[in-house]
Amino acid sequence: MSSGLFSPITFGKVTLKNRIVMSPMCMYSCEQKDGKVVPFHLAHYESRAAGQAGLVFTEATAVLPEGRISEEDLGIWNDEHIEGLQQINEGIHRHGARSGIQLAHAGRKAVIDGDIFAPSSVPYKDDWKVPKEMTKEDIKRTIDAFAEGARRAKEAHFDIIELHGAHGYLINQFLSPLTNKREDEYGGDRESRFRFLDEIIEAVKTTWDGPIFVRISANEYHPEGNTMDDFLYFAREMKNHEVNLIDCSSGGVVSARPNVFPGYQLSYADQIRNEGDIATGAVGMITSGIQAEEVIQNERADLIFVARAMLRNPYWAKAAADELGVDLNGPKQYERGWM
Ligand code: FNR
Repeated sequence: MSSGLFSPITFGKVTLKNRIVMSPMCMYSCEQKDGKVVPFHLAHYESRAAGQAGLVFTEATAVLPEGRISEEDLGIWNDEHIEGLQQINEGIHRHGARSGIQLAHAGRKAVIDGDIFAPSSVPYKDDWKVPKEMTKEDIKRTIDAFAEGARRAKEAHFDIIELHGAHGYLINQFLSPLTNKREDEYGGDRESRFRFLDEIIEAVKTTWDGPIFVRISANEYHPEGNTMDDFLYFAREMKNHEVNLIDCSSGGVVSARPNVFPGYQLSYADQIRNEGDIATGAVGMITSGIQAEEVIQNERADLIFVARAMLRNPYWAKAAADELGVDLNGPKQYERGWM
C-alpha cells in the first residue's frame, strides 16, 4: 500500500511532508501574563516536529490582549512577541516540519481582567462576564489587529495562518445566529453574519501572502444554530476568498454536551470537502494511524489534526508510520535507534 497519510500536500507555496497536523492547543503557560513564549513552548512544539508531524500549530494566539482565552495564552498583539515566536519556528523547522499559528480572539469567552467584547451584549453563561457590544470602531480595531497579527506571524517565519472561527470565540460569535443579535450590516442573515470573517480574511491578505486555514464549528448543537446548509454557504464564500482549507471542529457556541466518539466530527469535514469543493481538515478523536489513513484514502479530508493523542505521545506520527508499515527517515538523531 502506498500511504495517503504519509503523502505530501501543497498549499500555495507551502508543502507539507505528510498529512499529520498537531492541532492547536492552549498550554496556559505564559508566566508573566504577557503573551510571551517561555522555554516550555519551545520544547513542546519542537518535540512534535521531531516526532514527525508534517505541520505543527501553536495554540490559539491572541491578536489583542482582551482576546485571550486566559491570561496565560500566547499573544501576537505586540512586536515584542515576534522574537519568541521566531524561536518556536526555528525548532519546528529544524525537523522538516512546517509551522502554523492559530490567530484568535476569544470575544465573550475571554477570561481576563477588564472589559470583554462580543457582537452582542450576551454572556456565554449566566454567571459569566457580560461582554460589551462591539461598536463599528471596535470591529475595525479588531480586524486591523488580525492583519497586524498576520504581519508579525510572517516576520516570525510561520508558514501557515489559521483563523480561529470555531468553539464559540469571537469570529464564531459573529457567524452564529445564537450569539449575533446585531441589527447593523454585521448581523441578521448569514451573508451579514459572515461579513466580519470576510473582512478579516481580506485584511489578513494585505499583510500575509501564505496559506490561510479557517477553523469552524460545523455543528452548534442547538436547533436554532447554523445548519450544514449555512456552513456550506460559508465554505463557498471562503473558497471565493481563496482560503486554502477549512478545519472542521464543532461546538462551544453555547454550552452543550455532544456525543463524543471516534471520528465524531469527521462527517462535517467529509461533507464540506465533497460538497463545498474545498480542502478540509478532520479533527476529533482520531487516535490511530489506521483510522487516519482511512480518512485520507477515502478522500474524506485532506489533513488529520491530532490533539490529545499528540499530548500523550509527541511521537504519534512516528508511531502511526510504524502501524502502517511506512519507513520514515527521522528524526535523524534517532535513526540508529530505530534499526
Ligand atoms: C484544545 N483545543 C483547541 N482548539 C483550538 O482550535 N484552539 C486551541 O487553542 C485549543 N486548545 C485546546 C487545549 C487543550 C488542552 C485541548 C485538549 C484541546 C481543541 C483541539 O485542537 C481539538 O480540536 C480537540 O481536542 C479534539 O481533538 P482530539 O483531542 O480528540 O484529537
